[in-house]
Amino acid sequence: MKTAYLKYDPDKTLSHISPEIYGHFSEHLGRCIYNGIYVGKDSDISNINGIRKDAVNALKEIGIPVLRWPGGCFADEYHWHDGVGSERKPILNSNWGRVSEDNSFGTHEFFELCELLGCKAYIAGNMGSGSVKELSEWIQYITAPADTPLGSERKANGHEDPWTLEYLGIGNENWGGGGNMRPEAYADLYRQYQTFAKNYNNYDMVKVACGPNSDDYHWTEGIMQSLKPWHTGAISLHYYTIPTGEWSHKGDAVDFSEYEYYSTIAASLYMDELINRHGTIMDKYDDERKIKLIIDEWGCWYDVEKGTEPGFLYQQNTMRDAIVAAINLNIFNNHSDRVIMANLAQTMNVLQAVLLSDGESLVKTPTWQVFRLFLPHHGAELVRTSCAVPFITNDDIEIPQISCSMSKKNDELFLTLSNISLDEPCSMLIDSEKSGISFASAQIITADVHSFNDFGKEENVCIHDYSGFNITDGKLTLELPPCSVVSVKICG
Ligand code: AHR
Repeated sequence: MKTAYLKYDPDKTLSHISPEIYGHFSEHLGRCIYNGIYVGKDSDISNINGIRKDAVNALKEIGIPVLRWPGGCFADEYHWHDGVGSERKPILNSNWGRVSEDNSFGTHEFFELCELLGCKAYIAGNMGSGSVKELSEWIQYITAPADTPLGSERKANGHEDPWTLEYLGIGNENWGGGGNMRPEAYADLYRQYQTFAKNYNNYDMVKVACGPNSDDYHWTEGIMQSLKPWHTGAISLHYYTIPTGEWSHKGDAVDFSEYEYYSTIAASLYMDELINRHGTIMDKYDDERKIKLIIDEWGCWYDVEKGTEPGFLYQQNTMRDAIVAAINLNIFNNHSDRVIMANLAQTMNVLQAVLLSDGESLVKTPTWQVFRLFLPHHGAELVRTSCAVPFITNDDIEIPQISCSMSKKNDELFLTLSNISLDEPCSMLIDSEKSGISFASAQIITADVHSFNDFGKEENVCIHDYSGFNITDGKLTLELPPCSVVSVKICG
């Protein structure tokens, strides 16, 4: 069996792991909001003002810290005023399935959802087809006191107190579907929009500018030249893992070859390079690193499940997705000096969802299990580690076998690892630079890589306690089975 080594200094913490790294993204797309999180007040499915109770509970179990809404592409065609009050204006969702929506889920319902979840709100404002006035008035409606014109409209619509809006995105993918802009043009327009995006609820709202698509370094360079920390708190990066690398044929969610598995993993690991290279450009223009990075869309994107509406982006979620989630979350932890938020696309029934529903049935996917396993990292401090790990090869792909990150909270150390190999176990030797390790406990998620959790059946992929380790002379030796995600709590 191959051996990997990890050495850590429990007294050297590097950066704060913002809980928002474990954030989520919910768009008006397919069955994410309507017939997903929101079933309507008259539904037979147990709900609170139309919001599915079991979904709320499942999201609370993974400590959902922030929710981005209403899109995505949808955001740049969303007119908020159509979605408040007793007379809602139906709309056509031109991006996703060209379906009609009755607008019954709007601003009030979104903030009620955030309140039920106990999470922060991240609104993506319409820049692509809206106006400066429309966005400025939306923020006013949300945050101004009830004795102001828009505050009193909010009060008349049933909510007297202003809400807290922590994050505001200005536009979405404005290099593409959000207006096909050049970075210079976007940056100028962004500066204008953000000037009038005033928050009246005394909160230090983070304004988020549209950052690059994947490896579009030209975009990052173009916007960073003009955006200053007093305009923007963060820029966003969108990057999806596509097994084949081709949008026209992305690969199946469940039926995939060994090579396709490894190409998915290699594509996920690429996130690290993206953060490093965009980060280098950001440092050139902002050496104090005041402008942060948000990965506000990430996850696996496969071919849509056969027999489902192509515009709804419904896909199954297997143990492969669990490994991808672990890799990405470890990368984000390790970059927590720069990455302050990441939002998985998307929460329910769309792309790499944590929840899937079929009528009354709700499934917690393998990705949900990883979010549950990583919970102790939320708000912890990243610990300095040095690792030496073996590499694995498959055809033309060569990748490290192990992904990991370590954090510390209340004197307890927490380590998350993934053995990416499909057939080779790995022995991990863990050693502290200070006092020896005195106690450890571990949990594991492991299953055949094609396994998924199905409706009405027992969970195939879930968290178990794990005893495959020993402590000798203050050193911990942990056996990592192939295709596994493991967490370890360590004292010492
Ligand atoms: O998440 C699906 C879509 O992917 C979003 O609407 C868009 O922002 C991205 O291209």
